[in-house]
Amino acid sequence: MKRIVVAGAVGLALAGGVFLFRSAQTPPLASGVTTPLSAVVHKTPTCGCCTNYITYLKRKGFEVEVQNHDDLTAIKEQYGVPAGMESCHTTVIGDYVSEGHVPAETIMSMLSEKPSIAGVALPGMPSGAPGMGGVARGEFTVYGFSTDGEVTRYGE
Ligand code: CU
Ligand code: CU
Repeated sequence: MKRIVVAGAVGLALAGGVFLFRSAQTPPLASGVTTPLSAVVHKTPTCGCCTNYITYLKRKGFEVEVQNHDDLTAIKEQYGVPAGMESCHTTVIGDYVSEGHVPAETIMSMLSEKPSIAGVALPGMPSGAPGMGGVARGEFTVYGFSTDGEVTRYGE
């Protein structure tokens, strides 16, 4: 009888260890995300394509709060947007960042897959991207970036 109790305790301890290991491996949750999806867009006051992108996000079901800044340098720094990845606006969705005219589908996939990255970026302002005019030349290359500045192609 005593042996069974000991075996049970060891089993519990093992189960506890596995649980701790698993939770340590879980990527960060986008904890601030609620339904409808809430997003904060940081932009400059006069940006037209930013306004178009905000309209696009709203149409895709996002609830958008707009914050205007005369200079976005501090915002890019605060949210860890790597050099060369910058665009005209920075969107914050929960714990994730989306830089530029990123398609809503990409943001949605990031929110559901919860990759261990800080965010995604579509650098520059490519024509045909959501909120931009013109025609897209092929597929957009969206990048994922981490808090330590590592950049990889996202979604491949
Ligand atoms: Cu733009
Ligand atoms: Cu913009």
